[in-house]
This record gives sequence, C-alpha cells and structure tokens, in this order.
Amino acid sequence: MSSTTSRFTLDDRLPAGYFTETLHADVRAGLGTAPRTLPPKWFYDARGSDLFEQITRLPEYYPTRAEQEILERRAPEIAQLTRAATLIELGSGSSRKTRLLLDALTAGGSLRRYAPLDVSGSALEEAGRAICRDYPELDVRATVADFEGGIPLSDEPGPRLLAFLGSTVGNFDREQRAAFYRTLARALSSDDVLLLGADLVKDTEVLLRAYDDAAGTTAEFNRNVLHVLNRELGANFVPEAFQHVALWNAEHERVEMHLRARTAQTVKIPDLDVSLDLAPGEDLRTELSCKFRRESLTAELKEGGFTVRHWWTDDAARFALLLAVPN
Ligand code: SAH
Ligand code: AVI
Repeated sequence: MSSTTSRFTLDDRLPAGYFTETLHADVRAGLGTAPRTLPPKWFYDARGSDLFEQITRLPEYYPTRAEQEILERRAPEIAQLTRAATLIELGSGSSRKTRLLLDALTAGGSLRRYAPLDVSGSALEEAGRAICRDYPELDVRATVADFEGGIPLSDEPGPRLLAFLGSTVGNFDREQRAAFYRTLARALSSDDVLLLGADLVKDTEVLLRAYDDAAGTTAEFNRNVLHVLNRELGANFVPEAFQHVALWNAEHERVEMHLRARTAQTVKIPDLDVSLDLAPGEDLRTELSCKFRRESLTAELKEGGFTVRHWWTDDAARFALLLAVPN
C-alpha cells in the first residue's frame, strides 16, 4: 500500500499480518521464557512515538542533545566527505536531528532524496510530510518496515549515506548487532557510507537518571507496551500494577528497563490463549540500552563488515557519532 503526493511517498512494507503474527510470536516467545522479555519495537505505536519525543526533551535524557551537538558541528564535514545523493535513515522517528544533515547535504548540492524507514507509520507520515514541505528540492520516500526483517533498499541514487541515529543500535544485544551489521554490509555498496550514533559508557547515576526521569515520562513510555498488548491482543494488563525499573547491568554495560509486578497477578491474553501468572516482584524486561566504548564498537563493526573512518563526540564525550565504510 502506498500513498503519494508529488514528492512524498509512504510505502508500507510490513508483511500482511505483521501486527498479529509477529506480535503473537514475539509475545509468546518472550513471555513464555525466563527472564520474561518483550522486544522494544512494540513501544512505538502513535502514543509511544509521542512519548519518546517527550523523552528527548527531558532534562535527564542527554543522548538527543549530545548527538545534536555533534551533528551541529559535523554535518557540513559529513556532507563534504560523503557527497551523498540519498540519505537513508533507519528508525527515523520525528527526523528532528536529521534536519541538520539535510541542511548540510542540500547546501552542499549533492542530496536528491531522503528515504526514512521506521516501524511507526504515524511518525513517518508526520515527519515525512513536514520535510517534504520544508525541503522543496527533495524527494521523500518513506518506508514503513521492520529493520530486523532486512533492509529494503532499492533504486536510490548513490552515493548513499545510511544514518542510524539516537543509539537505537544499543537496543540490540551483541548477537543482534552482529546480524544487523552483516545485513547492512550486504545491502550497501562500496561507495555507500554508514553514519552511526552510539551512546557511551559513563557515570552510572547519569545513565540511570536518563532512564528514570522525575516527571515519569520514561515510566509511561515503558508501560505503553502493555497498552499495545491490551489493544492488539485483547490482553488485560493493568499498566499501573507494574513499577517502572531502570537498572545498570555492569557485566554487559547496558541500562535495562523492566516492568515489575507490584503484586501477584494473573494476566489473560485471549488472542494467544495464554494466562500469565506473575509473582510479586517478578519482572518483564522490556528494553536493553547498551552503552559503548570506542575500541569494542570499532572491533564489532569491523567483524560485521565496516571500517570506522571518523569518530566524533560531543564536548563532554557522552555520545559518539561515527562514519564507517563497508570493508
Ligand atoms: N532516530 C530518532 C528516533 C529514535 S527512537 C532519534 O534519534 O531520536 C527509535 C525509533 O526506531 C522509533 O521511531 C521506532 O519506531 C523505530 N524502531 C524501533 N524498532 C524498529 C524496528 N524493528 N524497525 C523499524 N523501526 C524501528
Ligand atoms: C530509541 N532508543 C535508543 C532509546 C534508548 O535510549 O534506548 C529508547 C528509550 N528508552 C528509554 N528512554 C529512551
């Protein structure tokens, strides 16, 4: 299905039955094993995408501002280094920071197309139309897709710059990242470039505050996945019956978000014919947010098929943006 104005297309590439079959399989697999887990992509219905945007403006959530600081300083250099004709962006969300790249690449005269890809159709529709309006020289080709199911790249003019910002790569564990890099390396050609945003290991208190803000917005974002399961699967989770927990896993250098049952409870998920007995204090793990170090990230990218050519951080070295090329 695709909707079109002159320079804007929105192509829905989610397979038929995505919200039933894939969600069913994820929930059945994730909630049926210990530890109980849910994949983070299910946060992002329209409400979840809005809540994430609110998170990016919280005083405690530094990653967005830190990456913005790097982009403000480095976008002209990135434009000059890549001379990209197409900017592809995975997990583009509101595309707010992306505008710094679009400005530099259009000022440099190379860019013809912006191709955002996200699982959230509402975020793509809103961001894509606004960019189309504000950048009259660009074609905007938006794709609703799950980037874990492959990266649907097609006839974009090259060279292509593929951006994956916000440290969304940190929401994958090590094995998922390895598979993801290999898929990306296969999809890109030798004159394409990867621009990757990665949040760095830092003081634990700073990290935990970013995932447990005083206003409770992250808690609401976390509980949103239960609203999604209630709506899509007819489940009867009581979101307020779960405490939002953010913890630092030192072994894996990652923040984890959990939802902790406040009391013993039985949750029915009729569409899966499942009844879930939760003990008081039992956790559902809803997100990993891995934090990175230069040496190990460079090494895992190398193994996945990419050589890091440039590494930039904000002044406080909280966040890194790197340019890498296929090996
Ligand atoms: N890049 C933006 C948004 C980050 S939030 C920023 O830096 O601020 C993560 C984004 O990735 C959301 O818009 C979410 O809908 C999208 N996303 C998460 N999992 C996804 C998946 N499996 N496939 C496609 N998009 C996904
Ligand atoms: C999208 N992703 C990189 C965010 C993160 O920081 O892991 C999602 C998020 N979760 C809680 N706050 C923000």
